[in-house]
Amino acid sequence: MSRIEKALEKANSLRGQDAVNEVLTVENVTQTQTMPEFFSPEVAVKTDNPYLAVLNEPNSPAAEEYRKLKSMVVKYTKKGSSLLNTLMVTSTAASEGKSLTALNLAITLAQEYDHTVLLVDADLRRPSLHKYLGVEPRIGLSDCISEGRDISQALIRTGIGNLVLLPSGNKVSDPVELLLSGKMKSLIRELKHRYADRYVIFDTPPVLPFAEAHSIGLSVDGVIFVVREGGAPLGNVKEALDMLKGTNIIGVAYNDVEVSSLDSDYYYRGYHSRGEK
Ligand SMILES: Nc1ncnc2c1ncn2[C@@H]1O[C@H](COP(=O)(O)OP(=O)(O)O)[C@@H](O)[C@H]1O
Ligand SMILES: [Mg+2]
Repeated sequence: MSRIEKALEKANSLRGQDAVNEVLTVENVTQTQTMPEFFSPEVAVKTDNPYLAVLNEPNSPAAEEYRKLKSMVVKYTKKGSSLLNTLMVTSTAASEGKSLTALNLAITLAQEYDHTVLLVDADLRRPSLHKYLGVEPRIGLSDCISEGRDISQALIRTGIGNLVLLPSGNKVSDPVELLLSGKMKSLIRELKHRYADRYVIFDTPPVLPFAEAHSIGLSVDGVIFVVREGGAPLGNVKEALDMLKGTNIIGVAYNDVEVSSLDSDYYYRGYHSRGEK
C-alpha cells in the first residue's frame, strides 16, 4: 500500500468510517475526493518576508513579473482539458532564485485559482521554503521517502490561498540516492494523479553540481529554468541546459534583472524596486 493510500485510509478512519472499501491505485486515485491535506492542520506561517513580493508588494513591478510568469505557466501547461500539472523549478547554480521563484509563483497560482497548489521542497541539501515562510516542520519529503512516513503528516496548509507545503524534512546523508530512487519517482507519479487538476511544484537543487534536478525533471511535466542576472556564467548555463536534455523545459525565468524600458524614468531590478540594494 502506498503512502497516499495509507493517508487516505487514515483520512477515512478519522472520519469515522470503516476500513477503506476501495483500494486506491495510481490509476484510480484521481476518482476520490478525499485529499491528504484535508486533515493537515493549518500552520501559522509568517507572511511578512520581503521576498514574498506577491504578498507584500502586490503592486510592485516584481509582483507584476511573477504574475506574468504565472500567466505564461498557465498558458503552457493547459493542453485542452488536460493539465501539465507537475512542474519543477531549477537553475544552473546555487542562489539564482529557484526557491523564491517557486514560492512566489506558487502563491500567485494559489491566490488566483480556487485550487490547491502543492509546493514541494525537493532541495534536501539546502532547503529554504520553510525558512522563507517562517515555519519549523518536524518532518517532510525525506522522511516520507526514507521512512515511509505518511505524507499527510508532513503537509502544511499555509493559509495563503490554497497553498500547501511539503517541506524537505530531516537531513539525510544521501540526498542523491533518495531523490533518484524509485520511491521518489512513484511519489511524483502519485502526486501527479492525486492532484490531477492542481499544480504540484518541485523546488530542486541546482543542475550543474548535482544529479537530482535532472532525475526529477524527467519525472515531471515541465521545467522552469531560472537564470539570475550576473549569476552563473553563460557557458555554465548552456552546460546546465544541456544536462537537462530529455526534460520538457517550458520556459526560462530571468531573475533579478534590471530592465530599462523605453521610458528611461522607469526601471526596476526585481526586488530592488524598493531600493533595498
Ligand atoms: N530577485 C531577487 N532580488 C533580490 N534578491 C534575490 C532575488 N532572487 C534571489 N535573491 C537573493 O538570493 C537569495 C537566494 O535566493 P533563493 O531563491 O533561495 O536561491 P536558490 O533557491 O536558487 O538557491 C535570496 O535569499 C535573496 O537574498
Ligand atoms: Mg533554493
